[in-house]
Amino acid sequence: MTSAHETLKTRNLQRPRRLRRLHSLRLLLKETRLSTSDFVYPIFVDARIRKREHIPSMPGIDRLALSELPIEVANLSELKIPAVLIFGLPEKKDSTGTEAYAANGIVQQAIHVIKKAVPQLIIISDVCLCQYTDHGHCGIVKNGVIDNDDTLEVLSKIAISHAKAGADIIGPSAMMDGQVRAIRNRLDENGLKDTAIMAYSAKFASSFYGPFREAAESAPLWGDRRTYQMDPSNRKEALREIAIDIQEGADIVMVKPALSYLDIISKAQSRFNTPLAAYNVSGEYSMIKAAGERGWIDENATMLEVLTSIKRAGADMIITYFAKDVAHQLHDDST
Ligand code: PBG
Repeated sequence: MTSAHETLKTRNLQRPRRLRRLHSLRLLLKETRLSTSDFVYPIFVDARIRKREHIPSMPGIDRLALSELPIEVANLSELKIPAVLIFGLPEKKDSTGTEAYAANGIVQQAIHVIKKAVPQLIIISDVCLCQYTDHGHCGIVKNGVIDNDDTLEVLSKIAISHAKAGADIIGPSAMMDGQVRAIRNRLDENGLKDTAIMAYSAKFASSFYGPFREAAESAPLWGDRRTYQMDPSNRKEALREIAIDIQEGADIVMVKPALSYLDIISKAQSRFNTPLAAYNVSGEYSMIKAAGERGWIDENATMLEVLTSIKRAGADMIITYFAKDVAHQLHDDST
């Protein structure tokens, strides 16, 4: 029995809860769905080791030896993860990062090994200098500054060597002006017209890269990266960087990091028609792992919430260290 008073109070009440009543109803109405095909898994290959080494600041992520790649990528392929992003740790570093474009460099060898093991797995190669230079900067240093145009030359050489080794997609991440144009031109001159470019377009000078720099031993020896990576305060500049990279020939553009930059992802998705990647970076991963280990949050649920938010914001693909964890989760859910 409802009293007249209650009926009056609830008349014309909008009831969104009607559609949240049952699990199956919520499933039917879900607006954003994660799929294993959304993800790219980063891999660290280390030329100096014969056996995997844990990365203390990134629980669950290892630096791998070349010989371990076939099993690793077979596993990824079984999980239906479509792509990997390769980072190399070279045998030796020098002031101009020559190991980065050596024909038998660690990334070049890794590409061969992966392509042989799982030909259909898409290989994206990170093109940068910071792991290869003794000063840890992403470019050539001249009189104490990172020289843009000299760096373009070296980045192009690295890109060609990766493409010749069999990389499907080149990922220039040095944040040098004109890097996409320089690499596109050089790829075309070398008959590598089908090699695509995923540009790290809006890459911010972020504190969230901390664990990666430990993993890749790529922290700058002096100064910081703020003369080439972007100021986290800037939205219009991020959109301008993306527009420039599209104009220069980028096939995919990227926003990095993801979580503190969901507004940039959302704006970029509505403004541009080029596929958009988001990089869920090391610090974003490690925070969840650390809090999860302490029992302060539910790691799996948090992971799913975070990845869903990146996709909801507008990312067409997500580069994440969680790729394997989330794939396991999605496979479990579907069985
Ligand atoms: C640099 C590079 C960085 C990352 C990938 N490539 C950042 C940096 O050191 O400035 C970070 C990725 C991550 O944190 O997961 N070329």
